[in-house]
Amino acid sequence: MPDNPTTKHARIRSLEEYHEAYRRSVENPEQFWAEVAEPFTWRRKWSKVLDSDMAAGRNEWFQGARLNITENCLDRHLASRANKLAIIYEPNDPKTRHLRLTYRELHQEVCKFANVLHNNGVEKGDRVCIYMPMIPQLAIAVLACARIGAVHSVIFAGFSATAIADRVNDAQATVVLTADGLNRGAKQIPVKRVVDEALETCPGVRRVIVVEHLGWPVHMHEGRDVWYHEEAEDVPKTCPAEEMDAEDPLFILYTSGSTGKPKGVVHSTAGYMVWADYTFRNVFQIEENDIYWCTADIGWVTGHSYLLYGPLLAGSTSLMFEGIPTYPDAGRFWEVIDKHSVSIFYTAPTAIRSLMAAPLDNVLSYSLDSLRVLGSVGEPINEEAWYWYYQHVGKERCPVVDTWWQTETGGIMISAMAGITPSKPTHAGLPMPGVQPVLLTQEGKEIEGNDEEGYLAIKHSWPGIIRTTYGDHERAVQTYFAPYKGYYFTGDGARRDENGLYRIIGRVDDVINVSGHRFGTAEIENAINQNQNVVESAVVAFPHDVKGQGIYAYVICRPAAATKDKAHIEASIIETIVAQIGKIAKPDKIQIVSGLPKTRSGKIMRRILRKVAEGEISNLGDTTTLLDPAVVDEIIEGRK
Ligand code: PRX
Repeated sequence: MPDNPTTKHARIRSLEEYHEAYRRSVENPEQFWAEVAEPFTWRRKWSKVLDSDMAAGRNEWFQGARLNITENCLDRHLASRANKLAIIYEPNDPKTRHLRLTYRELHQEVCKFANVLHNNGVEKGDRVCIYMPMIPQLAIAVLACARIGAVHSVIFAGFSATAIADRVNDAQATVVLTADGLNRGAKQIPVKRVVDEALETCPGVRRVIVVEHLGWPVHMHEGRDVWYHEEAEDVPKTCPAEEMDAEDPLFILYTSGSTGKPKGVVHSTAGYMVWADYTFRNVFQIEENDIYWCTADIGWVTGHSYLLYGPLLAGSTSLMFEGIPTYPDAGRFWEVIDKHSVSIFYTAPTAIRSLMAAPLDNVLSYSLDSLRVLGSVGEPINEEAWYWYYQHVGKERCPVVDTWWQTETGGIMISAMAGITPSKPTHAGLPMPGVQPVLLTQEGKEIEGNDEEGYLAIKHSWPGIIRTTYGDHERAVQTYFAPYKGYYFTGDGARRDENGLYRIIGRVDDVINVSGHRFGTAEIENAINQNQNVVESAVVAFPHDVKGQGIYAYVICRPAAATKDKAHIEASIIETIVAQIGKIAKPDKIQIVSGLPKTRSGKIMRRILRKVAEGEISNLGDTTTLLDPAVVDEIIEGRK
C-alpha cells in the first residue's frame, strides 16, 4: 500500500524480510513494536512500550499513550481514501440490492450512531451489548461505541435469550443495540423478540436501540426502547472521538473455556489496534486495490479483527455478507466472489467442507479469476479440504494461509504470510513476528528441536494478548497464566515439523470445536442438566465430516422418566440446550444411559466416553479402576 504511512515497518515482502523482522522482534521487542506503532494517529505517544508480568497475567502495551481507534480506522484515511469503498454489504437474498459505503460515508454513519449513543446517555467506559444481524449498522454500531469510548460486547445473533442475559449481566451492560429481525438463508428470525425475552432477567438495562432491518412490527417497551432511525433524524454527522488511554478496554467478547460459564475476554485499545493491523497486512499481503472478504460473523473474534478493525485500520475494502454459504444454493460464495471481484477470501474449514459435499459444478461454473489469496481459520483444516480449496477455488494459483489464533490472542499468531513464508497443507506454519511459541511437556518443560509434539504455549507478551477476563482477573490468571509459569497457555496441542512449521492438533482441555465455534463440555452439560428429565450428563466430542467435531452427550435420566419415550426425552433435551445456549450447541447424538464410567473417587473417565463416541471400542484401555465396569458394556451396546 504505497501511500499508507504505516507501510515502512509494517509490511514484510520477502522470506528474508520475515526472518529479519522475526529476529528483531525477539531480540528487542520494544524497539520493534515502537517502530511498527509509530505511524498510527496518536493523541499522545507512549512512555513505555511494554510492561509485562506474564505470571500475574499483567500485560500493558504502549503505556501512557492516548488515542482513539476509530481515528485510525476512519479519520486517518479521509485525506487519501475518502471515496474508497470501506464496506461492501452483500445481503442474504441475492435479489436484494447490495450496498456500498465509502470511507467518508462510513465516517459519517459512525459519527451519527455515536451521537445517538451519546444522546441516549452512553458514556466512556459504559458497556454496550450488541445483538444484531450482519448488516452495515452492526459494523457502524461497534465503531460508534469505540468512537465515544464505550466498551462493546457483541453477542452472536444465534445465541438464545438465556445466553444473551448471561452475557449482558456479566458485562453489566446498561444499553443493548439490536434490530427487528434477521435473515439467515431461507429463515427469518425475530431478533428483537429474543432480546425482549433476555432482558426480562437483566434489570440493569435501561435503553434498547432498535435498528429497522426487515421492517417487522416489534413491541417497543415504553421508556426503554427507541428506534435508531428516529433517534438519528437530526443528529450531526460529526462526532469528536473520545481520547482513550492505550490500556482502556476496547471490547469484551465472551468465549467458552473448559470450566463453567463463558468468560468475557477483554482486549484493550492500542495493543489490539497495532496487532490487528500488523497481522492483517502481513498475513494477507494486502494491496491498495484488494477487495477483501472475511465470511465470519462480527459476533466472533474473527469478525472483530479481520472483517472490521484490521481491514479498516489498513484502509482496505471489506465485504460483509449477511447470508450463509448454501443459500440459495451451494454456489453463493463463488457467485459473490465473481460479483464483487473479491481478491482475498478468508473462511472456515467447516464452510469449505459443507461446500465440498455439493456437486463440483457449483464452484466450477464461476470464474473466480479475481482471487489472489485464500485463508482458513477457526479449526484444523483437514488435508482433503485444504486441497479442494487450493485446487477448485484457488485454481492452484492462490496461496492458502491457515491462520491459527484464538479469541484471547486478539489476532493471528501462527500462519503463513501469503506467498512469503511456507504454506503446507494442515500446517499453520511459522509464527508472526513477536510471537514466541514453545511446545511444553505436561510437566511444563520446554521441548527443544523439531519433529516434536507438545502443549502449545507462548513465551513472551505480544500486543494483542488478552488483558483480563471481565470482572474476574483471577480467572484469567488461572486459565492462561498459572498452568505454566511465565507462559501464556493456549489449551491446544501442536506439532513442530522438521522445518519448524507448526501444526495444530486440537484442544488438550475440555473444549469442543464445533464448526469453528468453541464450547466447554461443562457448559453444555450444565445446560442439559437443566432439563427436568436429567440427573447427570457427560459430553464429549467425536470427529464429524462437516463440523470438524460433533457433540455426543451421554445422559442419565431420573427414574420418573423411565416410562417416557426416548425420542421424546431426546427432543426435550435438545430444546433445553437451544434455550440455554442456542442452536449452534445442539448435540449430534444423545445416548441415554443408566450410569457413567466413574473412578472410585467419582471422576468421570471421559477417555472411555470419547473412545465409544469415536467408535474405537476395541481399544478402551484399562477399565479396572472403574467403580462399575459393567456400565461400559451397556454404553457400548447402546452407542449411537
Ligand atoms: O483449537 C484452536 C482452534 O480454535 C481455538 C480458538 O477458538 P476461538 O477463540 O473461538 O477463535 C477462533 C478464531 C480464531 C484454538 O484454540 N483454531 C483456531 N484456528 C485454528 C484452530 N485450530 C487449527 N488451525 C487453525 N487455523
